[in-house]
Amino acid sequence: MKGVILAGGLGTRLYPLTYATNKHLLPVYDKPMVFYPIRTLVQAGITDILIVTGGPYAGHFLGVLRNGKQLGIRHLEYAFQEEEGGIAQALSLAEDFSDGGNLAVILGDNTTDADISEAVAGFRSGAMVFLRRVPDPERFGVPVFDPQDPRRIIAIEEKPAQPKSQFAVTGLYLYDHKVFDFIRSIKPSARGELEITDVNNRYIEIGELQWAELNGFWSDAGTFESLFRSSAYWAQKVTGRACEDFARYWTPGGAAD
Ligand code: G1P
Repeated sequence: MKGVILAGGLGTRLYPLTYATNKHLLPVYDKPMVFYPIRTLVQAGITDILIVTGGPYAGHFLGVLRNGKQLGIRHLEYAFQEEEGGIAQALSLAEDFSDGGNLAVILGDNTTDADISEAVAGFRSGAMVFLRRVPDPERFGVPVFDPQDPRRIIAIEEKPAQPKSQFAVTGLYLYDHKVFDFIRSIKPSARGELEITDVNNRYIEIGELQWAELNGFWSDAGTFESLFRSSAYWAQKVTGRACEDFARYWTPGGAAD
């Protein structure tokens, strides 16, 4: 399977940080954000990767990733997204790259330590979404489960005011080649974007949406709070020290006193 990392957009929710570079190159603890989704794919055996990016700092990716060999990528390609048309529009640029095969797609600001190898190895056709229980599902795509059959998703609602479950649809997806026909069939949403949620709902309509729960940490990093949360998690994981240890540096009675 090939992999696609969606790393476009202007990152306006992170202004003024994103006046300086592309959101996905900002630091999450000790690495540029995009290193994390790359690692998720490479660990699942996906080493043929397309980065879809755009905006004024698209060129910065080359300087940071070069040909990707140091990160375990065998073959790295870039695509340039001309407009801010949403996740599904960005994914449409991967059609030639996919060459009719299956794709693992991951949003460039999603970091996780979950292992998706098994799902990738077992995937044949249709689509698969990865769910994570979150305290604030209204910020995400939210699955609605069939009351008769709680394992079955009957719809996904994008940022619902009244979420019908506690799960977020994370920014990791597996798709077969039909995804490109579905993208062509959808219309821009109220926020003017081609929504990946509308694409996933097409797979539900034809009875081909599977799901798995992500085991481990998962967060997006597109807001100050989620960016900080992601950095805090990875700082703990890398150093083995609790967040309070870092805070002790500036609190009275701490290391600096
Ligand atoms: C996007 C998707 C949403 C998904 C989220 C995961 O939201 O539209 O369905 O739950 O990514 O990070 P956005 O970041 O565009 O608000």
